[in-house]
Amino acid sequence: MMRAALRFAIVVLAAIVPLRYSSAEVGDIAFVRKAAGTEDVPPAIFPHFVHRMQFKCHVCHDAIIVMKAGANPITMDAIQDGKYCGVCHNGKTAFQATFEACPRCHRP
Ligand code: HEC
Ligand code: HEC
Ligand code: HEC
Repeated sequence: MMRAALRFAIVVLAAIVPLRYSSAEVGDIAFVRKAAGTEDVPPAIFPHFVHRMQFKCHVCHDAIIVMKAGANPITMDAIQDGKYCGVCHNGKTAFQATFEACPRCHRP
């Protein structure tokens, strides 16, 4: 009985703590990474609001990005190939994924 309660508490905490303490702000989308082995780089955070101020929804949805959190298999390879974020984050429309820029998307 106690064990079940304890396990339940741990599951609940594990779900709440990352939401509360991630550096994502209200309206940001914190990506959930599925691939293992790259935990040293924190998952990317997408500031939706900053983008919505500058672009109409249809610029991204669904031409570049499907309108559902977690539905886009975004990787750095795809970004460097000019897909997803890389359609704009190419050093022309917006800052490129150079070494100094990692923490702008992967906020520690
Ligand atoms: C610069 C690109 C861009 C623009 C412009 C943009 N979005 Fe998004 N949107 C995204 C990204 C990236 C995601 C997250 C997708 C993911 O998690 O795979 C997203 C996710 C969403 C979601 C899903 C949220 C969820 O919790 O499932 C909705 C709804 C959405 N956008 C609506 C809008 C609306 C409405 C507008 C215009 C007011 C807009 N978006 C403009 C890039 C954009
Ligand atoms: C324009 C935003 C952006 C920049 C800049 C950026 N990334 Fe990413 N990165 C993403 C997104 C979005 C994903 C997919 C979600 C995730 O796994 O965090 C991703 C995924 C990753 C992954 C997961 C594995 C993979 O290969 O996809 C690693 C590791 C990573 N990035 C490292 C870096 C490093 C190192 C830099 C700097 C050289 C960097 N990123 C710059 C947006 C960015
Ligand atoms: C339609 C074009 C477009 C797409 C697609 C796009 N961005 Fe951006 N993004 C911009 C522009 C333009 C800016 C502001 C100019 C700059 O800072 O270079 C920006 C700024 C940002 C910033 C800095 C925001 C700030 O607080 O100053 C981050 C972080 C970012 N983008 C992440 C992403 C990630 C992650 C993705 C993919 C999931 C993405 N963007 C997709 C155009 C885009």
